[in-house]
Parts: sequence; C-alpha cells; structure tokens
Amino acid sequence: MLSCLRYRALSPARHILCRFASDAPASKPAPRPFIPTVFELDGHRYTPDSNFNLSPAVTRLFNRKLLTEQGNPLKLIRDRIVEHMHANHRARGNRSPRFTVCENLPRVVSLFDNFDSLLTPADHVSRRPSDTYYVNKDYCLRAHTSAHQYSLLKQGFDAFLVFGDVYRRDEIDRTHFPCFHQVEGVQIYSSEDLFGVQQPGAEISVFDTSDRTALKQAGHTQDTVTVLTLRLKSTLEDLCRALFGSNIEMRWVDAYFPFTHPSFELEVFYDGQWLECLGCGIMEQELLRNAGAGDKVGWAFGLGLERLAMVLYGIPDIRLFWSKDSGFLSQFKGLQPGDDYKYKPISAHPQLYMDVSFFLPEGTTPDNMRANAMDLIRTVGGDLVEQVDLKDDFFHKKKNRHSQCYRIVYRSNEKALTKEEVNAIHGEIADLFVANHGCVIR
Ligand code: PHE
Repeated sequence: MLSCLRYRALSPARHILCRFASDAPASKPAPRPFIPTVFELDGHRYTPDSNFNLSPAVTRLFNRKLLTEQGNPLKLIRDRIVEHMHANHRARGNRSPRFTVCENLPRVVSLFDNFDSLLTPADHVSRRPSDTYYVNKDYCLRAHTSAHQYSLLKQGFDAFLVFGDVYRRDEIDRTHFPCFHQVEGVQIYSSEDLFGVQQPGAEISVFDTSDRTALKQAGHTQDTVTVLTLRLKSTLEDLCRALFGSNIEMRWVDAYFPFTHPSFELEVFYDGQWLECLGCGIMEQELLRNAGAGDKVGWAFGLGLERLAMVLYGIPDIRLFWSKDSGFLSQFKGLQPGDDYKYKPISAHPQLYMDVSFFLPEGTTPDNMRANAMDLIRTVGGDLVEQVDLKDDFFHKKKNRHSQCYRIVYRSNEKALTKEEVNAIHGEIADLFVANHGCVIR
C-alpha cells in the first residue's frame, strides 16, 4: 500500500539551471516540486532523491487495483486469458497447467530489473525521466511487466504469466493513460522440449556457431528459430481467437525490443484501424545466460490489457476503466469471463438515486416481487432509470413480514435531471407499489 509519509520541498535552486538577472520575479511563484522523505509501496520502503518525479496524478492510482476489482472489464479479460492458457497449455502428462500465474509483484523495481537485465541500451529513450517514473536513482515504477522476467527466470520458472499495472509518462489520448495493465508471458525450452527425444545420430541442434543476422541471433540454429517462432505466434494467435472469435483480423509486424530478436508486434483490426496489442519475440540468449538459463531457449510476449478490452467490449476511451460511475461498472458486474458483451455508452449527465422500501403483501414471494418491481419501475421511469439494485431483502421477524428495498438510479441521456423531476417519478413509483401490488411503504 502506498503512503507518502512526509513531504519536503526541494530547494527551488536545484531545479533552475539558469536564471537571468533581468528576469522579473514571477507574480505567482511556480508550484514547487514535492519530494517525500520516505516512499512506501506494496510493503517496501524507498528513500526518494532528486530523481523522484511521481505526481499526485499517478500516486493516487496505486490503491485502486483494477485487476482485482470484480466487474472491471480488465479483471474479466485477465480471467479469460488465464482460463484459456490453463486449458490449452499443459505440462507434460497433460494434467497441471504449464504457466505459473504471478500477480501482486512489487510495482517499484530496480533500474536493473526494468532496463539493464533486459539489455536496454544506456541511452535508450525509455530511460529518460520524461518517460519513466523514478523513485530515486536506483528504483522506478515498472514500465512494463518484462521487468520481472529476469528475477523469475533466476528463481527457476520455465513458463509464467505476470499480470500487473505498469506506469509510463506517456502522451494523453483515448488509448494512453499513465497507468495501464499488461500480461507478460514467457516460456523457455530445453532441447527435448523443443525437438522431442532425439534419435542418436540424427540429433537436431538447438545451438550452433552461426552469426547474428537481421532474422536471428548468433548461435541459434535455423530449426530453433523456426520452431520457437511458430510456437510463439500460434500461442498468441490462438489466444486472440479465444478472446475475439475466429473472425478477428490480425497481422504480424516486425518490431524491435532490446530483449528479443527477432521481435514482432501483433495488430488487431478494430473500428476501422489497426491497433497494436502486443509485442513479442525470441528471448535474447544473453538475458537467459545472465539469469542462469543459458542452456535453454525461449520466447516472451507482453500484451496490453486495456487495448484488448477496448476491442473486446467496444470501450471507446481508456479512462473509462477507472470510472467509478455505476453506469459503467454495472454493465460488467454480472458478466462471466467467457461472456461476449458490447459496452453501451453512458450519459455525461449526473446520476441521482433514491430508495424505496416496503413490506411485501402476504402471499407474494420475494422473487415474484422482484420481477414485478423491475417491470413497474421500468414502466414508470422509462429511459430515465439507469439501474435498479435490490439493496435489502429480508424477513422482519417482529412484523412477521418480508421487506425489500430498491435503489433506483435516475439519469437522462439528454439533460441533467432536477430533484423535483426525479421526486415526481419516484413518488409515482412508490404509489403504484401500494396501489398495484398491495405493498406497505416503510
Ligand atoms: N515489454 C514490451 C512493452 O512493454 C513488450 C514485450 C514483452 C516485447 C516481451 C517483447 C517481449 O512494450
């Protein structure tokens, strides 16, 4: 959990590289950058230094944890991916799932994990403070789930999926937000995993002494590249078909990542354009060697969950994933990971809600009442009713009567409703519960 314990202001001079004598003092002083003395996240403590560049706009996102929020489309897509991978990728013997699912890994990672272990060049753009959120000179917020590759390999995992929120100082538009979510997939193979049990005298080699080319790494045989690429691409194409159905249009594009070669991106056609959904490739052998798995070869992919969920559910804007508006959340609340659903745009006008509570007449079952209540509310409220929730449903022992309470959320697509307008509708609904169904308003 995040807690910025105490904040101290950096001396402004440290941030002003050059000041001219003629500079008139600004009428309003510029806001001072604040740097906490201690920064705590996910149970770990760090000491910020002058590299600290996290803004409140980012720190306030830490506690939300969308991937664990029931009814968030990101959680649904996470579940759908795990179900597909577990069902279709089995360890030898076909019983246990092959991929270990890793979640809740600390979101602050060392620069070594985020960059160096992944062979990111010292002058790579992703290291710029304008691209990455730094806690201090040694630690940053993970900018991708690849930041966990090295340590998981080192711990001995051969196949894993890492889900998590990642942070980038990025452009702002309808597909970019400072925090988004990824799943990393890695699988490494022994020679036998790749080519089966070898026939003596007719072995297929994983490694040779060949040079690096535009198409492969030094030391990988053509067979290794062919089989790994095939397995990687078919794993991802199968996953995308499981998510989007067999009619989805996909295309592979060549790409560059410091930690894979060759590298690819998969694009999916959505809403009239090609949307980049994932990056992947054959893992750099140097990374595997450094992590103590140099005798194996493997592939890795990183997939953007928001992008996939936007395509799958027709969600037009990335900010909606963070919405607390029940008009958004209620649409996904009852869905199963396998359900197909298209998002219905919610109104920009504010919601108003009111409760109606009553005792049921004798002889009416709670289920029947519920069905009748939905009809009645819909009939009277029409399109102005956005949601109805049965908030309370219990047997009142003293009164020997069953009681229910409905919360009705009113909202118009056309205008902001006034309290008076809603009162009138709500009053009519309450009256009809009495007149048509014999309820006793509480
Ligand atoms: N980490 C890359 C990104 O965030 C994606 C990626 C993962 C690419 C694994 C290759 C292999 O863009």
